[in-house]
Amino acid sequence: MPSVTTAPAVSIQAKSLVNAKSSPCSPEIIDIRGEHVEFNLKEDIISHFNPDNGPRTLPTLLLYNERGLQLFEEITYLDEYYLTNYEIEVLKKSSADIARRIPEGSMLIELGSGNLRKVCLLLQAFEELAKSIEYFALDLSRKELERTLAQVPDFKYVSCHGLLGTYDDGREWLKQPAIAGRSKCILHLGSSIGNFHRDDASGFLGGFADVLQPSDTMLVGVDSCSDPAKVYHAYNDKQGLTHRFVLNGLTHANELFGQEVFDLKNWRVIGEYVYDEEGGRHQAFVAPIRDTDVLGSTIMPHERIQIEQSLKYSQAETETLWAAAGLTEMGRWTRGDEYGLHMLQKSSIPFSLIPSIYATGPLPPIHDWEALWTAWDVMTKGMIPKEELWEKPIKLRNACIFYLGHIPTFLDIQLTKTTREPATSPAYYWSIFERGIDPDVDNPEQCHAHSEIPDEWPPIEAITTYQDNVRSRLRELYRGGPERIPRNVARGMWVGFEHELMHIETLLYMMLQSDKTLPPPHTGRPNFEKLAKQAYEARVPNEWFDVPEQIITLGMDDPEDGTDPSCHFGWDNEKPARQAKVHAFQAHGRPITNEEYAQYMYNSHIDQIPASWAEAPSNTANGNGTLNGHATNGVKNGNGHSNGNGHSNGNGHSNGNGHVTREFPESFIHGRFVRTVYGLVPLKLALDWPIFASYDELEQCASWMGGRIPTFEEAKSIYAYVNKQKRAEAERTLGKTVPAVNAHLVNEGVEEDPPSQALAPLAEDNSQLFLDLAGANVGFRHWRPVSVTSRGNKLAGQADMGGVWEWTSSNLTPHEGFKPMGLYPAYTADFFDGKHNIVLGGSWATHPRIAGRKSFVNWYQRNYPYAWVGARLVRDV
Ligand SMILES: C[S@@+](CC[C@H](N)C(=O)[O-])C[C@H]1O[C@@H](n2cnc3c(N)ncnc32)[C@H](O)[C@@H]1O
Repeated sequence: MPSVTTAPAVSIQAKSLVNAKSSPCSPEIIDIRGEHVEFNLKEDIISHFNPDNGPRTLPTLLLYNERGLQLFEEITYLDEYYLTNYEIEVLKKSSADIARRIPEGSMLIELGSGNLRKVCLLLQAFEELAKSIEYFALDLSRKELERTLAQVPDFKYVSCHGLLGTYDDGREWLKQPAIAGRSKCILHLGSSIGNFHRDDASGFLGGFADVLQPSDTMLVGVDSCSDPAKVYHAYNDKQGLTHRFVLNGLTHANELFGQEVFDLKNWRVIGEYVYDEEGGRHQAFVAPIRDTDVLGSTIMPHERIQIEQSLKYSQAETETLWAAAGLTEMGRWTRGDEYGLHMLQKSSIPFSLIPSIYATGPLPPIHDWEALWTAWDVMTKGMIPKEELWEKPIKLRNACIFYLGHIPTFLDIQLTKTTREPATSPAYYWSIFERGIDPDVDNPEQCHAHSEIPDEWPPIEAITTYQDNVRSRLRELYRGGPERIPRNVARGMWVGFEHELMHIETLLYMMLQSDKTLPPPHTGRPNFEKLAKQAYEARVPNEWFDVPEQIITLGMDDPEDGTDPSCHFGWDNEKPARQAKVHAFQAHGRPITNEEYAQYMYNSHIDQIPASWAEAPSNTANGNGTLNGHATNGVKNGNGHSNGNGHSNGNGHSNGNGHVTREFPESFIHGRFVRTVYGLVPLKLALDWPIFASYDELEQCASWMGGRIPTFEEAKSIYAYVNKQKRAEAERTLGKTVPAVNAHLVNEGVEEDPPSQALAPLAEDNSQLFLDLAGANVGFRHWRPVSVTSRGNKLAGQADMGGVWEWTSSNLTPHEGFKPMGLYPAYTADFFDGKHNIVLGGSWATHPRIAGRKSFVNWYQRNYPYAWVGARLVRDV
C-alpha cells in the first residue's frame, strides 16, 4: 500500500533520488494542500450559484471527487471518448522520442493525473532508456491517488509519488528553492486545458511557466477536433456514462453541504457543441425538469446551469495560447490534425516572477542575460522601424540610435575596468556612447555631463557588430561558471546587467511617445473592448486601509570590498541597511485610475492632458478601437506639464470610500486616447487602468481626491505590512508541508515595536531580499498597464500597481551612511539636486530583479512627464 506523508519536499527529493535506482516504485503521497478543497468548494458553489451578475454556474471541480474520478476513468474506455484513444495512439508512437528530450534525473509532475494508464506509456519509455526520473502524480483525491499509483508497475528507473492537492497547491510546492532549481517537465494531459476559459488557460499555463527554468519543459495534450458530431458524442455517449459523471457533481455538492441541496431526480444533463467567435467547444449544463428550490432560489426548467466546458483549439489558437502564456512550442506529436501533444518551453520574455527563479544568486546566470538581450532585440529590431532610429521621440533626449551603442559600451566599460583587459574595439565608442542626456525639464540647457554627440552616428551594422562582440566578451567570462568570477568583476557585470534593464524601460517610454512605434511582435493584440467590459464589471470601491505604526528595514548590505560573496549586489543608494519607525496612517488599496484623473481634470477645468494620453481630432477617432494600431497625423501630444492653474483642492467628488464617482460627460473623453505599444487605445477603454503622469500632476489630483502621495517611508511601510500579511498566509498554508522554509518565514522586514529582542536584526536577510511577484504586472507579463479597479479591496504591495511605478513625495537625498559607489560614483549622487522624487516598485517593463528587490529605489524629476509612474493616496489618522 502507498504510504501517506506530509514530509518536507526537500527530504523527499534526496530520499527518492537515492531510491530511484535501487528500489521499486514506492508510491508515497505528499499532502501539499494549502486549504481544504471541500471548504473552498462549498463557498464556490454558493458564489457560482448566486453570482452578483451573469448566469448561474457550478464549479467544474465538483466533478472530481473519488466517485467522479472513477466514472471519468470509465469514460476514458468509451469508443466515443476519442480524446483518450488518440492520446494513447500518440504516446505509443512517440513516448521514446519525448523521453529522450527530458533530461535524466528530472522531475515529471502530472497535473490532474486521473487514471495513470496513459502516463505509464511514457514512464515505460524512460525505463527502456534506463533514464532515472521521478514521477509525481498530482490530483485531488487521496484514495484515487493511492488506487491509481498502486496499479503502476514496479519500475527500476522511475520512482513514483503522489501529490495531494490542487493545481494552485502544486504551483506553490514547485516554487520552493530546492525544487525550483531541479530539472523538470510538467505534464498536463487529456486536454484538461480545455476546461479553462480561453483567457484563464493562458494564465494557468503562464503561472506554471513562471516556476520553470529556461531548460524545463511542459507537455500539454490538446484536443483540436473540429467535427461537431464527434465532439458532441464524446460528451454525450450512448450509455449515458458522461451524464452520470456530471450528475455525480450534484451528489458531491449534497455531500459537501451534508443535505440534499439538489434533488437528483429533478435534474438532467444537457450537452451542446458550440462554435462562435470564441472558437469551438462542448458545454455541459445541468437543468431541472420542474421548478425546484436550491440554496434559496427557485430554478425553472428552462434555466441551464453550466458545470463544465471543453474547449477545442485549432493549431492557430494553440499558438495564440502559448504566446499569451509566455511559452514557445519546441515539439509536437499529433494524431492527424485532431489531437496533439505539445512540448513547450518558456519564452525568454516574459521574465519569471518567482524569486527562486529570477534571483537565484548575486550574479544573473547567463540565460538571464540571453533573455534580456532577447527583450532588447525585440524592441530595437522589431518595434522601431529602421529609419526611426535617428529620431528623438522625446526631444530633450538622444536619438534612439544612441541607446543601441550605449548599452554595449557601458557594459564594456565595466568589464574593462574590473578585469583590466583591453576594451572592445572600436575603443572610441567610449567617447560617444558612454553617457546619455538627461536634461533638466525646466531648463533643458542644464544637464549632467554627457558624451559628445558626433556629427554622424556610426552605421547600424557597425554598432550591431560591436554589440555582438561585447556580448561574446561577457559570455566568455561565464565559461568557467559564475562561481569562478571574482566578486569585483561580478559587480561590474551586475552593474551592466541592471543598467540594461533600466534602459529597456527608458527606451520603451521614449518609444511610447512616437507615432511610428510598432506593436511587439508575437504577442497578439489584446482585445481592449473585452478587457474594458470585464474590468468595468469587476469594479469594487477603493478602500482605505489602516497601516499600523511599525519599524521597518530600509535598504540592504553589500560590502564593496567583497568580504561577503554570498550577498546580493545593490546600488549605492540601497546601502547600508537601516531602520525607520513609521507612524500609523491610512492608504488606498489601489492607485489613481485614468477615470479618476479625467474626473479631476473635468472638475478642475484642466485642459492639459498627461503625456501618457493623446488627443485626436474627432474625425480621425473611430471610437471603438485604435487608430489602426498607430497614431495618425493630427494626434496632439500631451506634454504632461501641469499648467498650474485651475486646480481645485476640494474633495467633494470623492465618496466616503474614496471612490470618485464619474460625473463627466462622454464627450469629455471622446477623442482622447491612452498611448500603448499597440497604438492609441481610446480612453474609454482604459478608464480602469492606473494613470501614469508626472508627480506634479498627480500630487494635485491626489489633493483634489482628498489625500496625498505617500512619503518614501510610508510607501515602504505599506509594502512591509502587505508582505507581513502575505507571509502569515504563506506560513499558514505551507506550514505543514515545508517546515524547513518556515524557519525563514519570520519578520519580513517588519520589526516588533518594541522589539522583543535586545538587538533586532538590522540587515534584511538576503534570502528575503526578493519578493514573490506572482500576480503583479511586471517583467513583461503584459505589454501594457492592466485594470486595477477590481483590486481596491486589497492593499497593493510593492510593484503591484497594475504596471506602473509608485510616486513618493520624498526627495532623493543622501541618507546616513550613503557612499557613492566606486564603479559608478555619479549613479545616484548626480541627482541630489532637490528636483527628483523617489519612485518605487516597477512598471510592466521592469525586470523582476528590480521590481521585486525590496531595497531598490528609482527616481524622476517631479515634473518629468514621460515616465511610467502612478500614485496612490494616503491620509493621516
Ligand atoms: C479531464 S480529467 C483528466 C485526467 C487525466 N489527466 C487524463 O488525461 O485522463 C481532469 C483531471 O484533473 C483533476 N483536476 C481538475 N481540477 C483540478 C484542480 N484544480 N487541481 C488538481 N486537479 C484537478 C481531476 O481530478 C482529474 O483527474
